[in-house]
Amino acid sequence: MPMPIIEPFRIKMVEPIRMTTRQERERILDQAGGNLFFVHSRDVLIDLLTDSGTSAMSAEQWAGMMRGDEAYACSQSYYSFRDTVRDIFGFKHVIPTHQGRAAERILFATMCDSGHVVPNNTHFDTTRANIEYRGAQAIDLPIPETLHPGKHHPFKGNLDTNGLRELITRVGARTIPLGMVTVTNNSGGGQPVSMANVSETRDILAQHSIPFYLDACRFAENAYFIKRREPGYAEKSVRDIAREMFSLADGCTMSAKKDGLANIGGFLCTNDDRLAQQERDLLILTEGFPTYGGLAGRDLEAIATGLQEVLHEDYLEYRIASIRYLGNGLLGADVPIVQPPGGHAVYIDARALLPHIPQNQYPGQALVIELFLEAGIRAVEIGSVMFGKKDRETGAEIPARLELVRLAVPRRVYTQSHIDYVLEAILSVARRRDRIRGVKIVEEAPFLRHFTAKFARCD
Ligand code: F0G
Repeated sequence: MPMPIIEPFRIKMVEPIRMTTRQERERILDQAGGNLFFVHSRDVLIDLLTDSGTSAMSAEQWAGMMRGDEAYACSQSYYSFRDTVRDIFGFKHVIPTHQGRAAERILFATMCDSGHVVPNNTHFDTTRANIEYRGAQAIDLPIPETLHPGKHHPFKGNLDTNGLRELITRVGARTIPLGMVTVTNNSGGGQPVSMANVSETRDILAQHSIPFYLDACRFAENAYFIKRREPGYAEKSVRDIAREMFSLADGCTMSAKKDGLANIGGFLCTNDDRLAQQERDLLILTEGFPTYGGLAGRDLEAIATGLQEVLHEDYLEYRIASIRYLGNGLLGADVPIVQPPGGHAVYIDARALLPHIPQNQYPGQALVIELFLEAGIRAVEIGSVMFGKKDRETGAEIPARLELVRLAVPRRVYTQSHIDYVLEAILSVARRRDRIRGVKIVEEAPFLRHFTAKFARCD
């Protein structure tokens, strides 16, 4: 019998979890207007809101924090950060930013204008918002399988390359300042993209001289899936696979809060000298001098070490196995999820679980609320609250294509018994699914409304 896959680390420091009663959670949720973004973290038992910035750092990373060189200009920590990024990502220019969306803002401010169109397999919400803020259009081109949560595909995060060709023909290459692929495809279910798909996308864009960028937040998890699932990669190291993937792109945006195993940070990379100059000029306006870009020297050290550690294959094996364990546990009890389970999260198909709740009563948000009330679990809706759009003429809401609830697992934070607790809680909610009611939005902001909206239960 093969040995079980264990957490490849020992725990050196612990953070207590405060237990709450259902009655307390009713009151907490009421005060938060039904929006889990407003619940204080001390009131959450298992926090699966995001895998972003929530990693436990290693002893080596903490040691790096002490070594951090806090010089304003040209600190040693910048060079260790830059050299690590260059070594793994291979790009010429490495521009630190305080997180991924700052890299996006600078990239699109430099490359995008009103009337432009930017394709991606699926834009993350901040990516989309930063493009739209420039007056440009963000187009999602996922493969058709992405729209069917129950369908299996080894690389369900792939971009629809025929759709890309059609888009270029329809709008013209000059309207497209860059094309992107997000690895892994977060909004599409945390699903990986194959090397063949990255390569084909690049070739199509290159034929039209359109630059190609990767949104690289979860590059290591994506590279690990390529090693396990794509023919010809089993014997290659994850680091070499990552390098190959980046060698196909002209640049990338990165949130170090995911596969940087850091609590804050990001960067923007490019091989283009002229663009890099413009980007650094913008960086100075709002982020900081180009050798720190909104980060402390100690953060740059933590990222440099985190980027090395995230490529350890025993870590990635454990990481992907723990997500699979949660996903398979739910599937085994007939809770519908996006299949197969992704790299950083399991996505419950709320529409399939709660078919009696119409999309305009937000089945995903209703489920998120129930999970908190049941067991103090904080998850996030990735459906019509996040991606619903208003029709410009009628003002009616156009629902999202999928109503998902994401259970994102922070890196190196929770053990298997925590995951067993989560499983038990979801199964208990699923058993009383018929009695769960939908919700309505009673307050919302014009951009990224899911962060601040307030909800009330439908009668
Ligand atoms: N791109 C992707 C694919 C992301 O998942 C995120 C963040 C970003 C860009 C922006 O990075 O947060 O550092 O500014 N995703 C987080 C999440 C927030 O919960 O999935 P950031």
